[in-house]
Amino acid sequence: MDDTTTIQNASASPSIHEHKIVMDVRNITKSLPLGRERIDILKGISFQIFNGDFVSIVGPSGSGKSTLLGIIAGLDNPSSGQVLIDGVDITTMTEGKLATVRNSKIGMVFQAYNLIPTLTAQENVEVPLYVGKHPGSPSTRAKELLGLVGLSHRLTHRPSQLSGGEQQRVAIARALSTDPAIVIADEPTGNLDAKNGENVLQLIADLRSQTGKTFIIATHDPVVASHADRAIRIVDGLIAAIDEIGGRITQ
Ligand SMILES: Nc1ncnc2c1ncn2[C@@H]1O[C@H](COP(=O)(O)OP(=O)(O)OP(=O)(O)O)[C@@H](O)[C@H]1O
Ligand SMILES: [Mg+2]
Repeated sequence: MDDTTTIQNASASPSIHEHKIVMDVRNITKSLPLGRERIDILKGISFQIFNGDFVSIVGPSGSGKSTLLGIIAGLDNPSSGQVLIDGVDITTMTEGKLATVRNSKIGMVFQAYNLIPTLTAQENVEVPLYVGKHPGSPSTRAKELLGLVGLSHRLTHRPSQLSGGEQQRVAIARALSTDPAIVIADEPTGNLDAKNGENVLQLIADLRSQTGKTFIIATHDPVVASHADRAIRIVDGLIAAIDEIGGRITQ
């Protein structure tokens, strides 16, 4: 099904939630001061993400992928433009409201895992559940998620006692803990060897088919990108192409 059909279906039958726009990125720019000048990092980026999409963000080093992910995850402000999540603009929200949206709707996975070193695997996964209101017991949920990522035997290990691949799986479990609609990952396999990278990728593919969540993943790795439905190619702060996997270029 191509994008045009998807959009027509969405407007004709809004009840088909598979085709709902979960994220609408409108003309995002980001510039930062550098000495006496300003550098334009993002120069007007627009795209839409549908419920259940698996989209990769690809492009050369320094092209603006991490900057873009930080903005669509609500961790950073754009210089101009909007990011609508479920129709609500997060770029104008107060910090308190934004924190609630981030906690309930977005799970984030970082290249360097960013686990809390003094906490066990289980406690790391529980942390987001103590922020905001979530049903059920944090410890039960954390154990369930660590089981899902194949780490039931590592609940009480601290990050330093886990391999890189295991730490990344804890980070993925943590990102899923609040049952967010959207999981945003920045180079989730970037620090892993080929085998662990493949395992994490397979895990993401399985989670996607089991949970129907939306995944947005920045990557250098063509293998990771080839698993996505679409690759948004950023070059020098602009979208150079949106490739439907299979080679069809739509923009
Ligand atoms: N705080 C900052 N101040 C000045 N320039 C910055 C800052 N943060 C990022 N940049 C610049 O913005 C550009 C985009 O950076 P970004 O981290 O988004 O790239 P990237 O596509 O994620 O690269 P990589 O593939 O290497 O992770 C880079 O040229 C970087 O030097
Ligand atoms: Mg980056």
